[in-house]
Amino acid sequence: MPSATSRSTSPTSASGDEAVADQPKSIGRLAPIGHADARMAVCCFQRYCQNEPQMNIDYASDANLAQIVELRRRAFLRLAPQFYSAVEVRNLLADYDTDQLRTMIAGRRLFCCRRNDDLCGTSGWHENRLRHLYVEPDCFGQGIGSALLEHAVADFQARTVQHAIWAGVIIYARGFYEKCGFQMVSIEKASDGSEYYKMRKEIGRSASPIDG
Ligand SMILES: CC(C)(COP(=O)(O)OP(=O)(O)OC[C@H]1O[C@@H](n2cnc3c(N)ncnc32)[C@H](O)[C@@H]1OP(=O)(O)O)[C@@H](O)C(=O)NCCC(=O)NCCS
Repeated sequence: MPSATSRSTSPTSASGDEAVADQPKSIGRLAPIGHADARMAVCCFQRYCQNEPQMNIDYASDANLAQIVELRRRAFLRLAPQFYSAVEVRNLLADYDTDQLRTMIAGRRLFCCRRNDDLCGTSGWHENRLRHLYVEPDCFGQGIGSALLEHAVADFQARTVQHAIWAGVIIYARGFYEKCGFQMVSIEKASDGSEYYKMRKEIGRSASPIDG
């Protein structure tokens, strides 16, 4: 079974059509990421961090790669075995693309959340898809997943001209994505027959003066 986050959810292979090539080296703690609408993510994380001054979301680097892969494994193992067969879980865990992770890191499209310098979550985007959203299992239910999702969506919104972001969603996370504004598009089957959801979130864009 392909990874829930790597499954192709895109109707096309269109790239992200990046509008802003250069981003700051580090977004630092709660620093804006280049677009007014990014304030949504910043506000969400601010709310979360009010009592957590030691939290920050920053760009991932190649040095984090092994840690991210291990976090992914732990995060999926916490819930996936309750919803998928042992074979499907094994396929899920094996299905990630290191080259794509490196590409996302190089393009500053992969983010890490850290608490006291410990990695507690990741998220990012590739082409027109939300990718690699994982939270450290001991930190589930603390707002980290939604803050990371909103951060990646805001960055996507700021740096592309796309009107929607897509996600291939593992079945148990549908409610989480719906709470974060995604809508169900279709039920899909991976190559091993396991089910996942194609979901999509509209990106609000204000009309340009040309649009009238
Ligand atoms: C899915 C995941 C990212 C959620 O992260 P999280 O930090 O626990 O989520 P949050 O605390 O930000 O939750 C935000 C809201 O979604 C709800 N929620 C979280 N997980 C949920 C789930 N599996 N189903 C339904 N609702 C969920 C929370 O209760 C919360 O609701 P509230 O605002 O009403 O309190 C996390 O469980 C995870 O990493 N899972 C393993 C990896 C994975 O499956 N990634 C997604 C692949 S598609």
